[in-house]
Amino acid sequence: MMDDHPADFEEIARRFSHLWQALNHGSPETRKILVDRVRDALDRGEARLRDADCQIVANSFMLEALIHDGAATQVYRARHRDLGTLHAIKMPKPDHADDPVLRKLMLREAEIGMALRHPHIAATQTVLRLADGRPALVTEWIGSRLAELLQERPLSLGEITSVMTSVLSCLEAIHAAGFVHCDLSPLNLLADGDLSRLKIADFGIALERGCRHSQFDLAFAGQPDFASPEQMAGQRLDERSDLYAAGCLLSSLLNHCNEESDGSEALKALANRLSQQDPQARPENARAALHLLDGSAKRPVDA
Ligand SMILES: Nc1ncnc2c1ncn2[C@@H]1O[C@H](COP(=O)(O)OP(=O)(O)OP(=O)(O)O)[C@@H](O)[C@H]1O
Ligand SMILES: [Mg+2]
Repeated sequence: MMDDHPADFEEIARRFSHLWQALNHGSPETRKILVDRVRDALDRGEARLRDADCQIVANSFMLEALIHDGAATQVYRARHRDLGTLHAIKMPKPDHADDPVLRKLMLREAEIGMALRHPHIAATQTVLRLADGRPALVTEWIGSRLAELLQERPLSLGEITSVMTSVLSCLEAIHAAGFVHCDLSPLNLLADGDLSRLKIADFGIALERGCRHSQFDLAFAGQPDFASPEQMAGQRLDERSDLYAAGCLLSSLLNHCNEESDGSEALKALANRLSQQDPQARPENARAALHLLDGSAKRPVDA
């Protein structure tokens, strides 16, 4: 779905540069032939070029592929025209261009994303204003979702521990900045194939600590399989709500693990502790959860 062909791109750029040099430095006769050939190729290809789904935004980013077509928003893989870098660009769908609530939510998402910097957070880079006024969030491009990786192969206990270490250290940073993510799940965890570089994305329904979603005109926000009981009930949320989701995440990772040992039992116990119904029964914060995770990882495999 998210195929990228950097080698092809470089090859095309190399060939174009040769053509350009030939056009500039060749003999008048060669130049005439080349110009004629280029014209001919453009004439024949014009129809295809016109039909090609090539949209350019802010005169800077070429939208290469539609990656996500949600109810109200779309995400494109985009390439910066001068730098060649890849980005994800999230924007309201064109028919939602006049939706003031969505616009406000997207700008809020951008502000929260820009306020957070962490090696395991997908970096929000800027916000563009499209010609019709829609905001477009530009983030670093990260290949695929954990949800897809989980369908491809089982995980080792070491990989699960590494994913949870990234997630919990990232949650610690989000909570220290005063926010609750509220949407932690394999759909919002992105990785470029390498799980040690996993990043949390999607601050679309993040809240300031102590707030509730109804304050932002959102009746219910979150994924039922991962949202804490207090989030499902529309209550004020704090960091322990994200720890509940982290527990659900750990359980689902363990369902994709083919190792059975004391180590896996310890991780199951941690998942259970994190996803307690009563927030008070969960670890106090992400740091405490990280300590517990560290303890689980140190359990000898065959003790
Ligand atoms: N930085 C990124 N790199 C690569 N893909 C991304 C990136 N950001 C988002 N995506 C893709 O787009 C999908 C949707 O993005 P995101 O989670 O931000 O939107 P959403 O708020 O869940 O969408 P909706 O409005 O439909 O609920 C992701 O699950 C992922 O597949
Ligand atoms: Mg999402």
